[in-house]
Amino acid sequence: MKYSDIYKSWQDDPEAFWMEQARAIDWDRAPTRALDDSRPPFYGWYPDAMVNTCFNAVDRHVLAGHGDRVAIIHDSPVTGTVSRTTFAELQDQCARLAGALLAKGVTKGDRVIIYMPMVPQALVAMLACTRIGAIHSVVFGGFAANELAKRIDDATPKAVIAGSCGIEPSRTVAYKPLLDAAIEQATHKPDFCIILQRDTLRADLIEGRDVDWHAAQDGVTPADCVPVEGTHPAYILYTSGTTGAPKGVVRPTAGHLVALNWTMKNVYNVNPGEVFWAASDVGWVVGHSYICYAPLIHGNTTVVFEGKPIGTPDAGTFWRVIQDHDVRVFFTAPTAFRAIRREDPNGEFLRKYDLSGLRALYLAGERADPDTVEWARAQLNVPVIDHWWQTETGYTIVGNPMGIEPLALKTGSPTVAMPGYDVRVLDEGGAPVPPGTLGAIAIRLPLPPGTLSTLWNAEERYHKSYLAHFPGYYETGDAGYIDEDGYLFVMARTDDVINVAGHRLSTGAMEEVLAAHPDVAECAVIGVADPVKGQVPMGFVCLSKGVDKPVAQIEKECIDLVRNRIGPVAAFHLVRVVDRLPKTRSGKILRATMAKIADGHDFKPPATIDDPAILDEIRATLAEIGYPAS
Ligand code: COA
Ligand code: AMP
Repeated sequence: MKYSDIYKSWQDDPEAFWMEQARAIDWDRAPTRALDDSRPPFYGWYPDAMVNTCFNAVDRHVLAGHGDRVAIIHDSPVTGTVSRTTFAELQDQCARLAGALLAKGVTKGDRVIIYMPMVPQALVAMLACTRIGAIHSVVFGGFAANELAKRIDDATPKAVIAGSCGIEPSRTVAYKPLLDAAIEQATHKPDFCIILQRDTLRADLIEGRDVDWHAAQDGVTPADCVPVEGTHPAYILYTSGTTGAPKGVVRPTAGHLVALNWTMKNVYNVNPGEVFWAASDVGWVVGHSYICYAPLIHGNTTVVFEGKPIGTPDAGTFWRVIQDHDVRVFFTAPTAFRAIRREDPNGEFLRKYDLSGLRALYLAGERADPDTVEWARAQLNVPVIDHWWQTETGYTIVGNPMGIEPLALKTGSPTVAMPGYDVRVLDEGGAPVPPGTLGAIAIRLPLPPGTLSTLWNAEERYHKSYLAHFPGYYETGDAGYIDEDGYLFVMARTDDVINVAGHRLSTGAMEEVLAAHPDVAECAVIGVADPVKGQVPMGFVCLSKGVDKPVAQIEKECIDLVRNRIGPVAAFHLVRVVDRLPKTRSGKILRATMAKIADGHDFKPPATIDDPAILDEIRATLAEIGYPAS
């Protein structure tokens, strides 16, 4: 069948389409219907089904006779180790950790925070939670204690599972002191923590609260899979929004299983048994969907890579992993390719390896700039597929359905809407715009299975953030256009979210941190173009009257404050003290205009600008630090 036929079959009868896809999942009680539309604009999927995620990702493959097949390859250039875990071993490990959680009082519906580096035990922890119906929330290791504390207070976990350390190329990151500080700061206190001690840096355990990973499992009864309702949350994943309070995206169980399984063949064109590698981190949605769940549900081998595209040890490390583990399909963020290209522009490292098994490269997480896409295509000689999605959706909204029918690529476009998604471009008033016209990208409700059902403990915020602006639609927060052939082009965010090295961050959250500096009266943070990271944050601060500290000292304090409050992942290194910020007459700071000046883009100052001369001051400040870059 062709893509257009399949898309039409979904449009004609979404219920039949999603019931058909549900057949690939092993249910404890099969769904009798797909969509629950009893409470629009809130929707649910497979409401009367009973099912277990871990069973579908692990146990069923063992039962089908694939216990000896490798489920996880851990390739860790930062520790110089490679290890393999079969599906049978994974089942045993998940059952034992789940047993330990149960023995310590964690049951269905309880939350468990996971704060771990890229080790296979991170996947074991996620799967062990879903095995007993506990709801996990993985927190990325590059966040500071304060961010972890916010998530502890919002998710109110009964337990935290953490690694003793993460290993960055330049340093070992002690996770345990960050965890201790977070628990200290948080109002909610977890009952206990399970700590995986790594040889690189062992942690001191707090008696009565912390238990060693292995000791916790000693003598416990392995736990069986607990069937949960189709709409039961499998996990909460916090993502950046407009303010400093992260949004807890809730992922319901059944839709997650059905949709992710569907994507493996139809979007990525991999068959069970093949090796699939997403070079991301379990702390992000790509890591949830495509390091952990989708490959395992579909019976693929997944690669857990603990390293960076460059420097661990060199720009050839990705190619070595692809060769050594016979990776068929590879998925990463464009920023990784920009980093590699800068080190190895002629692909000399690449030619040292046999990449003949690789079928395609998939890029997502940020806009895939045409230059990087062309370079990757020329070097790898395989299709380079851009696809667009978000934490909220959990999988591809717009992509190239390689397993159905490879569609012609248009550089700069992630291609077309996948079945389940009715993607529209709207004007400010919510009316669809003609092809080629820029507008807000929105998706007609209901969103398909596998997408978020709400925000944790914040249904009103969910409604306000996504559903209120364009009634009947989900607002993606991205702007772009659809061309005459139905290809989408994603151009920019419409909110305060920026994308730094494929990591989604909130400039609003950084402004909240800067505003807390005692000498700062007012501030603005914008995203500016960066040749490797895509964007980096840049702060402008105005000081309170009478402050006589050296400006350089205040700027350094601001940088340290963001690093300590949000984390190194914010990559906040640029800040300038300025006299005034450009504003409209009603007092709104002109952040978008400042970003255009920094990036050297043409712009027309808004008619409502209060004092256009301030733009010249900002331009001069930017010029001092080399912006716009030539
Ligand atoms: N734990 C602790 N610290 C972390 C971390 C983690 N898991 N991940 C990143 N950090 C720290 C880094 O050590 C760095 O700290 P520093 O300021 O002391 O150097 C900081 O956070 C920024 O890290 P990063 O964004 O990784 O920048 P980098 O300059 O070290 O590397 C790239 C740049 C492009 C190589 C890297 O960002 C990369 O590989 N990106 C791919 C992104 C990706 O996979 N995104 C997921 C979406 S698909
Ligand atoms: P995250 O939730 O971290 O996955 O970030 C999602 C956001 O990243 C999207 O809303 C876009 O702004 C951006 N993004 C992700 N993939 C793409 C892509 N292929 N093209 C353009 N932007 C993308």
